[in-house]
Amino acid sequence: MEKQTRILVCGGGNGAHCLAVTAAALKNVEVHIMTLFKDEAKRWSDIVGDGGISAEVTTSDGKKSEVTGKPRLITNNPEAAMEGVDAVFFVVPAFAHQQYFDAILKYIKPNTIIVGMPSQAGFEFQAFKSLKSVSTYAIISMESLPWACRVVEFGKRVQLLGYKDVLGVSVVSAGKGNYKMPPLEYAQAILGPKPHLELIQNYLAVNLMAKSIVHPPILYGKWKDWDGKPLEEAPLFYQGIDDIQESLLTKVSDEVLETAAEINRQRKDLDMTKVIHIYDWYKVYYKDQISDNSSLQACMKTNSAYDGLIHPMKRVEGGLVPDFNYRYLSEDIPFGLVVIKGIAECVGVKTPTMDTVIAWGQKKLGKEYIIGSSLTGKDVSSTRAPQAYGFNTLEDVIGHL
Ligand code: NAI
Repeated sequence: MEKQTRILVCGGGNGAHCLAVTAAALKNVEVHIMTLFKDEAKRWSDIVGDGGISAEVTTSDGKKSEVTGKPRLITNNPEAAMEGVDAVFFVVPAFAHQQYFDAILKYIKPNTIIVGMPSQAGFEFQAFKSLKSVSTYAIISMESLPWACRVVEFGKRVQLLGYKDVLGVSVVSAGKGNYKMPPLEYAQAILGPKPHLELIQNYLAVNLMAKSIVHPPILYGKWKDWDGKPLEEAPLFYQGIDDIQESLLTKVSDEVLETAAEINRQRKDLDMTKVIHIYDWYKVYYKDQISDNSSLQACMKTNSAYDGLIHPMKRVEGGLVPDFNYRYLSEDIPFGLVVIKGIAECVGVKTPTMDTVIAWGQKKLGKEYIIGSSLTGKDVSSTRAPQAYGFNTLEDVIGHL
């Protein structure tokens, strides 16, 4: 980084560890970490002490290297965390975003860059509402985490399993900002050369690119007719996909594409070409891991990145039952499919398959988001659908472009 800067990393999980190390290892970058989860901040701070955090990095050519970084502060105190900070990186699952917005609001200074890493669907809507009183800020939405990563030893060591090559991001600025560096350049400098941040023209496209559409249709297809009897073994998740699940996922993806096309019909200036079908996405993004790409089902079944990945299950007397509270539903419905459904509703696109999946998922979660084909259930306000923030038309949802 050419200029001296300080960032705040929000979170205490895999991604937060990874960003904390890689950013703190850069010249001129100071890293604060804030986690509001239980006693995580104190535990992490005690573990690090005067030392650093290390990452074992494996690049796509199989080469391994070590990176070490020392954060300046690890805290649960938002005032201390926000002191002198130029950018705040949200590196937690979407259900935890609101508490970080609430915590930083009092201390955020104009021209702060907020990065959703990943943002997940509806991040901007939540940010616009949460940061209403802030005059100038920029929001960067990343379509995913820049790396696959996992904590090996909490507070001390993380494994970084390869950098993505390219990562789609959108940038939206509120007010006439005067940033230390242009926000996209800044984020790239914090990440280093990889992944290359590819600017997507608008945040609606990034919302519709969300991969949260994958899990709910697979779960619905698998468990909709389940008789409730425990199983001896957990079934394969992606590689166990059958014709029905494939068809459901295809139809949900078709509905996303129809929504993107309709947005473009109504507003020719909004480029939605980056929103592609899930089958095409697999063919591009997992091309090296897939041995048969003749169908969506084949892409999933022969994808070596999915080897051994099973349905989330919990143990009960007599065997295993599906865990419907796992984030494949609890996150991917209210912070995924419901948001996409909400955007479709704003532009008048019907989504019968999505509706069926949401109706089933909400029952499992004990929530009510959809009634018939309309997002008018009593729990919509707890989602990130545009309707939860009073946005009901395309003009409402793109008000900040
Ligand atoms: P994680 O599962 O490691 O995050 C756990 C952390 O979230 C906890 O340490 C805590 O700080 C926070 N947290 C958990 N429950 C909380 C609660 N009830 N209240 C407040 N905070 C809570 O997540 P990870 O792996 O860092 O991923 C972050 C996001 O990136 C997720 O949405 C994930 O789906 C996505 N992602 C992760 C990838 C990976 O390789 N780890 C790859 C691609 C995307």
